[in-house]
Amino acid sequence: MRQMKGEGEEEDIVCLDESFFIDDNYQLTTFTFGSQVIELLCLQSASTDFDLTGQLVWPGAMLLNDYLSKNAELLQGCTVLELGSGVGITGILCSRFCSKVVLTDHNEEVLKILKKNIELHASSENSKCCSGLVAEKLEWGNSEQIGHILQTYSDGFDLILGADICFQQSSICLLFDTVEKLLRNRREGQCKFILAYVSRTKIMDSLVISEAVRCGMQINELVGTRSVVGNLEGVIFEVTLKKQDE
Ligand SMILES: C[S@@+](CC[C@H](N)C(=O)[O-])C[C@H]1O[C@@H](n2cnc3c(N)ncnc32)[C@H](O)[C@@H]1O
Repeated sequence: MRQMKGEGEEEDIVCLDESFFIDDNYQLTTFTFGSQVIELLCLQSASTDFDLTGQLVWPGAMLLNDYLSKNAELLQGCTVLELGSGVGITGILCSRFCSKVVLTDHNEEVLKILKKNIELHASSENSKCCSGLVAEKLEWGNSEQIGHILQTYSDGFDLILGADICFQQSSICLLFDTVEKLLRNRREGQCKFILAYVSRTKIMDSLVISEAVRCGMQINELVGTRSVVGNLEGVIFEVTLKKQDE
């Protein structure tokens, strides 16, 4: 790692690479959502300022998994793509009901633990249910990676899911551009984006709504889903493409 100094000063060389800051001391942890029990590897708390938010389970995932476990009929036989999957807790729950689940993330370190958790579930007693569970790299707004997903899964998906993925202002526009392309890719029937949103700032609350509208979508709160998660307010939104005449 090189650190540039001011004019006239020598360049400083720090003999540490990024891996030095990465905590990969994952713990096998049990989560329960109604009758669904999920065991997976995750950290218990974030320990770096590097972009490794996905190494642990966030309140938005708890909110979404509670909702999905109570409304499992929504998932029955469906195809699902999850954005910003982190350790995979939402996708793994979905794989117990869905025919195909594609878990995505942009961070290489997070993808490593996500794949480990998929393997863990494939080798567990639930392995029959996890046959359609795969991980793919997908950074929001990356046209090459989006193109790969659209081509590989050319029939599209019934549902796009996202849990606690709205926390960085600069990525929201790219997130909704990506969602719009995924919703449009549906060959038959309608695809919905289900977003478990956790409110941390007023600016983000309005940005999420305005970006959905900018991308030609309607965004509605799912009745009865507004609740306290951790010590924050969370809600589940359903986002769909506006019909031509709306
Ligand atoms: C706060 S974590 C939530 C993880 C998981 N969904 C949960 O609720 O436990 C946000 C996730 O989004 C991923 N992420 C952030 N920015 C992204 C981007 N621009 N493209 C793709 N994934 C992104 C992170 O790597 C991380 O896994």
